[in-house]
Amino acid sequence: MNLKEMVGIKAASYVKDGMTVGLGTGSTAYYMIEELGRRVKEEGLAIIGVPTSYASKEQAEKLGIPVKTIDEVNHVDLTIDGADEISADFHGIKGGGAALLFEKIVASYSKQIIWIVDESKMVNHLGKFPLPVEVVPYGQEQLFRLFQEKGYNPSFRMEENEKLKQTDSGHSIIDLHLDCIEDPLALDEELNQLAGVVEHGLFLSMVNTVIVGKETGPEVIENIR
Ligand code: 5RP
Repeated sequence: MNLKEMVGIKAASYVKDGMTVGLGTGSTAYYMIEELGRRVKEEGLAIIGVPTSYASKEQAEKLGIPVKTIDEVNHVDLTIDGADEISADFHGIKGGGAALLFEKIVASYSKQIIWIVDESKMVNHLGKFPLPVEVVPYGQEQLFRLFQEKGYNPSFRMEENEKLKQTDSGHSIIDLHLDCIEDPLALDEELNQLAGVVEHGLFLSMVNTVIVGKETGPEVIENIR
């Protein structure tokens, strides 16, 4: 079993009958959704899934997990998602899979959040992983130039066919190659002020539990801050 599968299965064990569950996106969340599908089928687990991308929606539906949109539920009990980097103070970068907007909306309405990662994603400081910024196409070149002027080393996210990557909402992604984010809270505020920025991949003080995949087994770290 690979580490992503290990943490995916472990995280799915936190899901109880009757829960409304935010379904994350990415190659680690994939295994969690597979395991929930298995539990729905074999154990009769009764849940509602709230997918954070069209890919996760499609996967959940194929597995027979009932799904609703974030607007069709009153609350989300628990969201389980992957992450690209998690710092020692439990801030995170997400959006490597371009699903950051729906992921942040679902996370914002979740009572409990679990992130599932392998050890390589645990860092002291955020920033080695390029920070995704989701922008509306209108004015995106202006934002790009602004980021260049600020020294944020931007690059547009591209598809394999060399077209601009489009998110599930039809936006573009500008990745900021920052190397080290000294003050994530200040950067969060700064990016939130910019016209045309829809969302960014800094997920600050949101996670409750991190499950880290290690060769010796899954390690559960609680954020008690
Ligand atoms: C998608 C995400 C993913 O959760 C993140 O990129 C981690 O993905 P993976 O588990 O494939 O490494 O934020 O937008």
